[in-house]
Amino acid sequence: MDHRLVIFAVSVIFGFLVCGEAPFVKMTNAVCKSYNQSWVVVHYCRLKAYSRSKTSLNINITLSEPARNIHVHLKMMKRANGYKPFLFDYTLDACEFMRRRNQPFAKIVWNLIRNVSTVNHTCPYEGVQMLSDFHRIDIPLPLPSGEYLFLMDWLFDLKPQFATNVYFTFVEDNP
Ligand SMILES: *[C@@H]1O[C@H](CO)[C@@H](O)[C@H](O)[C@H]1NC(C)=O
Ligand SMILES: *[C@@H]1O[C@H](CO)[C@@H](O)[C@H](O)[C@H]1NC(C)=O
Ligand SMILES: *[C@@H]1O[C@H](CO)[C@@H](O)[C@H](O)[C@H]1NC(C)=O
Ligand SMILES: *[C@@H]1O[C@H](CO)[C@@H](O)[C@H](O)[C@H]1NC(C)=O
Repeated sequence: MDHRLVIFAVSVIFGFLVCGEAPFVKMTNAVCKSYNQSWVVVHYCRLKAYSRSKTSLNINITLSEPARNIHVHLKMMKRANGYKPFLFDYTLDACEFMRRRNQPFAKIVWNLIRNVSTVNHTCPYEGVQMLSDFHRIDIPLPLPSGEYLFLMDWLFDLKPQFATNVYFTFVEDNP
């Protein structure tokens, strides 16, 4: 990822934290799929209504063999006559990140899910992997109001194995 983008994103987030009300994020759909059933089986991937304005995300997948070399392709899309690329599109070495926590944007995402997921140790990953009742999206994101799609493609040994894609709406809080 372009470092200027990271700096831009971090300063906008900081701006929100300093001056703003927490804006409003609601996940509206979750779609997971395995590209390789012999390595990754998706048991479930769904939203639950948590309250009127919030949903929680629950994912349960099994990795039938250890994954030692994991990359994740993170891509944000914003809806405007179909979904268009927005803000970032980059691939991260997830094993290196879990060792060094060296990517500011990935760190924001990981901080959101670390206490509610099995993504809390260094590689390898094997067996059941879960995200349970994820609903605290409590850091403001640097986004204009709209509908978004956050795509995550997971690669093992540089080959795509599964996707976890989340649609959400974002409403700026402008009293
Ligand atoms: C699918 O998974 C198996 C492990 O069960 C692995 O050996 C194989 O390389 C994978 N295929 C692709 C295209 O990644
Ligand atoms: C996750 O799915 C596996 C396989 O179906 C199941 O054994 C396990 O109980 C599930 N875990 C939870 C918390 O639902
Ligand atoms: C996660 O748990 C740790 C230890 O219990 C706590 O210090 C931290 O604030 C929690 N983080 C989030 C994002 O809930
Ligand atoms: C990681 O998460 C699992 C499941 O929530 C938990 O049992 C385990 O203690 C956690 N490990 C660390 C190092 O936090």
